[in-house]
Amino acid sequence: MPPVAAAAPVAPEDPDHPTTAEGKIALGQRVYERKGCNSCHSVDGSARVGPSWRGIWGQPVKLADATVRTVDAAYVEESILHPQAAIVAGYPPAMPSFEAQLRPDELAGVIAYIASLADRAAPP
Ligand code: HEC
Repeated sequence: MPPVAAAAPVAPEDPDHPTTAEGKIALGQRVYERKGCNSCHSVDGSARVGPSWRGIWGQPVKLADATVRTVDAAYVEESILHPQAAIVAGYPPAMPSFEAQLRPDELAGVIAYIASLADRAAPP
């Protein structure tokens, strides 16, 4: 009988380079607080300078040029890197670009965080 191998200890995840869904969401939440997204975006549905992130994931969003986009990873990434490319209807073009300020892991984290705020009652 071979000896029973002890379960390999799980290495703690580097919070700045997360690989798990939970780690990505946590990093995105830290970016939201530390990069100042929270001064213009709420996560509870209330309006600030910009739209709340609560429940927007997977939903259609109407833009100022009357086109409609779906809030997905590509749209969120574009909104962060090139905020002037797609202006949400009813909001001022007031968001600065964060292109030079977010590492790829942080960008992926924000996307995961916004996705985690999806309205569970809404269809996928
Ligand atoms: C100075 C205020 C301000 C800050 C700071 C800011 N935003 Fe925005 N953001 C806006 C406004 C206003 C809009 C809506 C107009 C537009 O589409 O650009 C917006 C739109 C967005 C959208 C599209 C939302 C939707 O409902 O379609 C995303 C995603 C977003 N911002 C992410 C971020 C992230 C991530 C950060 C922080 C790294 C951030 N924003 C920081 C003002 C801001």
